[in-house]
Amino acid sequence: MSEILWQSGVSLTEASARAIELTDALIGRLLEVPPDLEARVYEAMRYSALAPGKRLRPLLVLAGSTLFGVSRTSALQVAAAIEMVHAYSLIHDDLPAMDNSDLRRGRATCHKEFDEATAILAGDGLLTMAFEVLAQSDTHGDPNVRCELVSALAGAAGAAGMVGGQMIDLIAETQTLDIGAITRLQRMKTGALIAFACEAGAILAKATHELRIALRGYAHNLGLAFQIADDLLDVEGSAEQTGKPVGADAAAGKATFVSILGVERARDQAELLIRQAIMHLDVFEERAELLRQVARFVITRSS
Ligand code: IPE
Ligand code: IPE
Ligand code: MG
Ligand code: MG
Ligand code: MG
Repeated sequence: MSEILWQSGVSLTEASARAIELTDALIGRLLEVPPDLEARVYEAMRYSALAPGKRLRPLLVLAGSTLFGVSRTSALQVAAAIEMVHAYSLIHDDLPAMDNSDLRRGRATCHKEFDEATAILAGDGLLTMAFEVLAQSDTHGDPNVRCELVSALAGAAGAAGMVGGQMIDLIAETQTLDIGAITRLQRMKTGALIAFACEAGAILAKATHELRIALRGYAHNLGLAFQIADDLLDVEGSAEQTGKPVGADAAAGKATFVSILGVERARDQAELLIRQAIMHLDVFEERAELLRQVARFVITRSS
C-alpha cells in the first residue's frame, strides 16, 4: 500500500473523501465486535463513531501531518484517536441530561438507538480507546512522542478543554455571559480539540517551536470560527442539511455568539477569524494550501 495520503495540490473534496475513507477503515478495524456479551457496547461505539460526519478533525490531522512528511500510519492513528474522542463528546452532548437531542448525523442519537446507559458506556469506551490507540507503537517509534500526544489530547479533551467548555455551556443556559466569557467557553468546548488536531502533525514530526506556534495561531482562529458557524447553522440551517435538530440553542436559552452579536455580526466575526487563521499559514507557503481550503470551508459549510 502506498504511503502517500494524497498528491500535493489535492482538492479539498478529494482530501476530505480520503480522510473519511481511511479514518473509518481504521476505526472499523479498531472497533471489531467481539463474540462476547459486551458486543453491545462495541455496536454502539461503531454506530456513533462510523456515522456519516465530516471527519474534520481527522482531515486536519492528516493535512497538518503532510506539511511535515509524517508517515501515513502515524497520522491515521492520531486521526482515528481524535475522531473517537469527538464521537464520544457528541454521544454525551446529546444525552437527556445535556442537550437532550434525538438526531445526530442524520440518525437517531446513540441513546435513542440503544439506551442511555449503553450510550454513556459507548462514550466512555471511545474516550478510553483513543488513548490506547495513541499509546500503540504504530503511532510513533519514539515513546516520548506518544506520551506528548497522550498528554496533549488529554489536556484538550479534559476539564481545562472540552469538558470544561461543556460545563460552562450548561451554565450559559441559566447565567448571562458576556462576549469574553462566551469566547473562552467556545475556545474550550470546540477550539481545544481542533487545536490538537492542527498541532498533531507537528508533534509527530518534532517540528520547531516556530512552526508549532504558527499552527496554534491558525487553530485558535479556526476553532472559534468553526463554533460560530455551528451556532449560525443552529439558527439558519435545516435538520436535513445538518443532520441534527436546529433551533436547539435558542430553545435552551443558550447564549452564543449569534444570540449576543446577531447573525450579521457573528458572520462578520467568523470571516475575520478565518482571514486571520489563513495569515498564520504564510510560513508554510503553498504547502499549506489544503489547510487554507479547510479554513474557507469551515464558514461556508451547510452541515
Ligand atoms: C459538531 O461537530 C459539534 C461541535 C463541536 C460544534 P462537527 O460539526 O464536526 O460534527 P460532525 O463530526 O461533522 O458530525
Ligand atoms: C457541542 O456543542 C460541542 C461538543 C463538545 C460536543 P453543540 O452542543 O453546539 O454541538 P451540536 O450543535 O449539538 O453538534
Ligand atoms: Mg451542547
Ligand atoms: Mg448539542
Ligand atoms: Mg451546536
